[in-house]
Amino acid sequence: MGKKSSSWYKRHVSDEFVKQANKENWRSRAVFKLKEIDTKYDLIKRKSNILDLGAAPGGWSQYAAKKHQDIRITAIDILKMEDIHNVNFVQMKIEDFEENYLKNHNFDKIDLVMSDIAPNISGIDSADIPAMLNLAEIVADVAKKALKQRGNFLIKLFQGKGTEEFLSDIKLYFESLKIIKPKASRSDSKEIYMLARNFKEIN
Ligand SMILES: C[S@@+](CC[C@H](N)C(=O)[O-])C[C@H]1O[C@@H](n2cnc3c(N)ncnc32)[C@H](O)[C@@H]1O
Repeated sequence: MGKKSSSWYKRHVSDEFVKQANKENWRSRAVFKLKEIDTKYDLIKRKSNILDLGAAPGGWSQYAAKKHQDIRITAIDILKMEDIHNVNFVQMKIEDFEENYLKNHNFDKIDLVMSDIAPNISGIDSADIPAMLNLAEIVADVAKKALKQRGNFLIKLFQGKGTEEFLSDIKLYFESLKIIKPKASRSDSKEIYMLARNFKEIN
């Protein structure tokens, strides 16, 4: 079956968020998830220094760069991403980021780490959930190294075995933690977002 006649493609083009993203010139429908969370929790603040992990094709970076001209964004993805004004894009996998980038660059501490990273989905929970948790652990290590005191951390996760333990660990490092299912997140997907606010550096 050709790509354009697949059920995924049909659902995608009839999706209201895809239509709205095209109409408003956003690079992805994912932008509406960040927009909803930011509207409620005001994460993207003036002059903030942001790490956008799993950034391509660039909806989240686009949203943040558009909201305030004076913020700094470093965006990372394995895939290429087209340039966005005020966004420093690094094509690298997250597994290499700490060793090959964070350690070598004179990095100012970060106000917000936001990760929309997801592994390639097989549809089999016993494979997808551990793959997501493995990436989430790597992202959380980056966040713990990069965040300022009182910085914030937003990450995509899958509901399922092991996720509660991940959340319990993160809770130790932040003053508050919330689980969010944005409207643009498909109801049949296991995807959820964790927002942890006010990082406490633990030595
Ligand atoms: C859902 S998309 C992100 C969409 C993005 N937030 C936006 O608004 O356009 C997830 C991204 O995670 C990236 N990704 C997956 N595994 C990764 C890894 N190990 N390191 C870096 N990026 C990864 C994928 O290449 C993909 O572009």
